[in-house]
Amino acid sequence: MKTIDDLAVDGLRVLLRADLNVPLDGGRVADDGRIRASLPTLTALTDRGARVIICAHLGRPGGKPDPAYSLAPVAARLGELLGHPVELTADTTGSAACAAVAALHPGGVVMLENLRFNAAETSKDDAQRSHFADQLADLADLYVSDGFGAVHRKHASVYDVALRLPHAAGYLVKAEVDALDRLTANIRRPYVVALGGAKVADKFDAFGSLITAADRILVGGAMAFPFLVARGDKVGTSLLEASQVAAAADLLKRATPGQIELPSDVVVAAEPGGSGAVVAADAIPADQMGLDIGPQTAARFAAALFAAQTVFWNGPMGMFERKPYSGGTRAVAQALADGEAFTVVGGGDTGAAIRALGFAEDTFGHVSTGGGASLEFIQGKTLPGLAVLEQS
Ligand code: 3PG
Ligand code: MG
Repeated sequence: MKTIDDLAVDGLRVLLRADLNVPLDGGRVADDGRIRASLPTLTALTDRGARVIICAHLGRPGGKPDPAYSLAPVAARLGELLGHPVELTADTTGSAACAAVAALHPGGVVMLENLRFNAAETSKDDAQRSHFADQLADLADLYVSDGFGAVHRKHASVYDVALRLPHAAGYLVKAEVDALDRLTANIRRPYVVALGGAKVADKFDAFGSLITAADRILVGGAMAFPFLVARGDKVGTSLLEASQVAAAADLLKRATPGQIELPSDVVVAAEPGGSGAVVAADAIPADQMGLDIGPQTAARFAAALFAAQTVFWNGPMGMFERKPYSGGTRAVAQALADGEAFTVVGGGDTGAAIRALGFAEDTFGHVSTGGGASLEFIQGKTLPGLAVLEQS
């Protein structure tokens, strides 16, 4: 894989695609893990005299400008980390962006406003994406792909723009690929996968191949509810993607008996503000929602993880941001810290969770900045944003 070490960048305009999709809390960055992970490439480029144009997305604003999804808090945090302010342009590829890029000096940095304020960024229509990619490419001489968390998306800034400019991978993309390669062949067993989090539909696609690869699959977070419903349980007001129930039923049929392990107890509350009560997973009251796996489940999952030789963990076990619902996620992290397995922790939220709970990143074999991306990578899928880097 060609990296920025293979590019001459001095004085040139470099469009740097980063994944700066970080959690916010009241207009401030709640976890800056993805911003920090982007620094090595960014500073290498500026040290070498590049004029750096950072482009990134925040959330899913739906293709139109929305101040709630502005990258302003991200630019502010990046400025703090760099020790000098980072200008955020008022638009993504419009006159404001063009003017800011024209004013860039060698070693300077600007950040374009949220790519997803433009419907063409994520469009399924090739022509729409192409048009937007042309505009992005017009801003720069070179393209550097370092937003690992988005390389599974065939988006204009991830895929199409790389077809238009000389390009290379950044250090983060390179490091992620090198680490995740260890989960694609010669895996040491038992190989245990723990899945949780909220982007349920995205992860269901991965399940089929994980059934083939993994010895045990532990399911928590909102991932568990379609399975519980498929099994005949009621889940009250829990976050449920009803469209996934049939798929969950199918997976339970295809898995070997006991291979998919579901919560046996759950922490519930009427709303996330409450303090929570533990109930059996098949007895969630109609007016309550599941917000974490219960202590019995946490202990069972922890034992399975402690005994593993290889672990892939994607998605928190509950609403870890609130203390009453952080126990399951903490138990999983602790088991990985205590065990001997090669551990990969994947995903923006999962990385944020281990940091919020006070675990050092080097406790784990690899902390991936990409959730969906790492999940697709370990299945051996072709990731558009990586495949395109192979093309010249
Ligand atoms: C992520 O947070 O997983 C990445 O930034 C990709 O975001 P997306 O799932 O909204 O495409
Ligand atoms: Mg995410």
